[in-house]
Amino acid sequence: MILVTGATGNIGTELVAVLSNSGNSVRALVRDPARAQLPAGVEAVTGDLNRPESLTEALDAVTGMFLLPGYADTPDLLARAKKAGVQHIVLLSGGSAAQADMNNAVSAYMTQAERDVRESGLAWTFLRPRSFMSNALRWLPQLAQGDVIRAQFPDVPVAAIDPADIAAVAAVALTGGELAGRILELTGARALVPAEQVAVLAQVLDRPLVCAGLTNEQTRAELEATMPQKYVDAFWSFFVDGTLDESQIHPTVRAVTGREPRTFEQWARTHADAFTSPAQ
Ligand SMILES: NC(=O)c1ccc[n+]([C@@H]2O[C@H](COP(=O)([O-])OP(=O)(O)OC[C@H]3O[C@@H](n4cnc5c(N)ncnc54)[C@H](OP(=O)(O)O)[C@@H]3O)[C@@H](O)[C@H]2O)c1
Repeated sequence: MILVTGATGNIGTELVAVLSNSGNSVRALVRDPARAQLPAGVEAVTGDLNRPESLTEALDAVTGMFLLPGYADTPDLLARAKKAGVQHIVLLSGGSAAQADMNNAVSAYMTQAERDVRESGLAWTFLRPRSFMSNALRWLPQLAQGDVIRAQFPDVPVAAIDPADIAAVAAVALTGGELAGRILELTGARALVPAEQVAVLAQVLDRPLVCAGLTNEQTRAELEATMPQKYVDAFWSFFVDGTLDESQIHPTVRAVTGREPRTFEQWARTHADAFTSPAQ
């Protein structure tokens, strides 16, 4: 049995689908079963990652677990997992874990999660994806208002990755032993600046979209309105001070899955409905 945490999220949704389509027994950790839409045959179990004691039922008979970083008392959760018979943890980390900068809030929680998993004594695989292509969904409210997208960090190129590719790599790691002990740097095949992503969206959605880059100060104000200061400072350090380079391409997706990483256009076509649904 494979337990997928964050099963309703960007990666988890894709991972549950790919594991279940290839015939694996999958259990999805959810907080609200009424809201979770899972493929037929996938077992839903309720639990809260911030309360490891709530995961007893979820961990029963599990051998492999896909784990999100940054929750309370991960060491306790991992000890419970080990006791329950879990053998392999596939951890969703991120590129900034390589910095191990405990003064940067994002790098710190990724780094701490990797340390906790290493110290658990369980077999592990660390996934370090760059920014997700699905981050473009943050533009939905602007797209509902008109054709101008005001983009944060407009000059920063990012080799964004399709969550489906992260899930494909995670599925390989969870279903075979050959990726144990590996740190996998995961990127798409091309680095794009926001205006290039917007140009792709314009073509896919057949709309005359225009990208208006925000200044650093406007970006900071927007971030401060939506997240705690420590995360604003972390992203500022990454993308204004330039401490994180997400433009470098890594061939990992192809090496692990045997196929090219998906392009931003492929991602946008697959998710075009999300951009055109009346809910936006
Ligand atoms: N976005 C990026 O560019 C990027 C890049 C690198 C790494 N990451 C990392 O990716 C992770 C997010 O992954 P994602 O985008 O797949 O997720 P997501 O779409 O943000 O969704 C979060 C998932 O976690 C679940 N969750 C939240 N709090 C929980 C709790 N206390 N107990 C159990 N489940 C809980 C949510 O379940 P509910 O349905 O119950 O809310 C949901 O399934 C973050 O750790 C982030 O740092 C993101």
